[in-house]
Amino acid sequence: MARVLITGGAGFIGSHATDALLAAGYDVRILDNLSPQVHGSDCQRPAYLAREAELLVGDVTEANIVEQALRGTDMVLHLASAVGVGQSMYDIEPYVRTNELGTAVLLQALSRHPVERLVVASSMSIYGEGLYRTHDQSVVDGGERSVERLRRGEWDLRDASGELLEPVPTPETKSPSLSSVYALNKFAQERMCLITGKAYGIPTLALRFFNVFGPRQALSNPYTGVLAIFAARLLNGRPPLVFEDGEQRRDFVHVHDVARACRIALETEHAQNVFNVGSGQSRTILSVAEDLADVMGRRDIKPEITRKFRAGDIRHCFADIGKSRDLLGLEPHIAFKDGLEELAAYLADQIADDQAERATNELLQRGLVA
Ligand code: UD1
Repeated sequence: MARVLITGGAGFIGSHATDALLAAGYDVRILDNLSPQVHGSDCQRPAYLAREAELLVGDVTEANIVEQALRGTDMVLHLASAVGVGQSMYDIEPYVRTNELGTAVLLQALSRHPVERLVVASSMSIYGEGLYRTHDQSVVDGGERSVERLRRGEWDLRDASGELLEPVPTPETKSPSLSSVYALNKFAQERMCLITGKAYGIPTLALRFFNVFGPRQALSNPYTGVLAIFAARLLNGRPPLVFEDGEQRRDFVHVHDVARACRIALETEHAQNVFNVGSGQSRTILSVAEDLADVMGRRDIKPEITRKFRAGDIRHCFADIGKSRDLLGLEPHIAFKDGLEELAAYLADQIADDQAERATNELLQRGLVA
């Protein structure tokens, strides 16, 4: 059976992709630096990582170890990345190094030893705001929200005449609007992979993940997604801190569905292509805070609506999954509530090291939350 190299395979999404590929009969080799921010300061192989997977500990920016990792590999799933949008706005150099230079090092090696398939993790962050519909039914890009308007608590997007814009699902055809270093990194990764893949005859796909959630989400990492941040607070008996008015919408996709998308992307004939990986459903942040408190048995803790905002945050973005459904047969299997229950059960066993506060303070100090 084919051997797949998963960069970043010890992480949240990578470890689930590992399980999905092993279950489908692939051999899996992982290259991962076991970053302390995700894996804790002892940098041990995580207990959840499948034993059958071979783990090489090393950094994707080191050419020697990347060469070594590629030896005898048939396909590559490139997930290794630094993933905090807020953090990318002040750890600029490490973000560009890991995300862009790391990808360049991988591609340099692949240009010498091409593989049968390359799949790279991109992100909904490249869209910026999602698509919107005007009151006369035309579909427009959301544009950006000005800081002045956010300071006045005017969270929603409006057209030139002041009419409210209605968010609609965002397809892959929406032009990118890059508003964080992380978004720029992700767009660079996907383009670099597609360009190099084409030049060297490596069938390549970029998967634009929406808000991924599920077990193994690193509670200790303050830059993990909002559900893990909220869960850490609830585990400590504290209310989730909801930015803006809580009515901002996202698309939460379960990590098992994402892992399956990774496997399908390695097998499909529709290469040289980008695909959204989402649930196709949108939820407000306030509603997910309440749903989570519910499944965690903490209905007594009400989310706190702070009316603060994070620099660079978008108002709404959720996936149009028509293309991935039609071409990849990708249909979400896990219902949101079932996914939350699984997350809650996993979290109940975790020691919640609630660092969300530290992350928010860090952003506050730098003027990135107001
Ligand atoms: C961003 C990226 C996404 C990336 C993800 C995880 C964008 C558009 N998307 O998503 O690609 O995969 O981060 O790094 O940049 N929130 C609170 N309270 C909190 C934390 C967050 O209310 O304590 C709110 C945010 O203001 C936001 C929503 O929850 O409205 C989602 O935040 P988050 O989970 O960080 O993800 P995104 O910013 O959507």
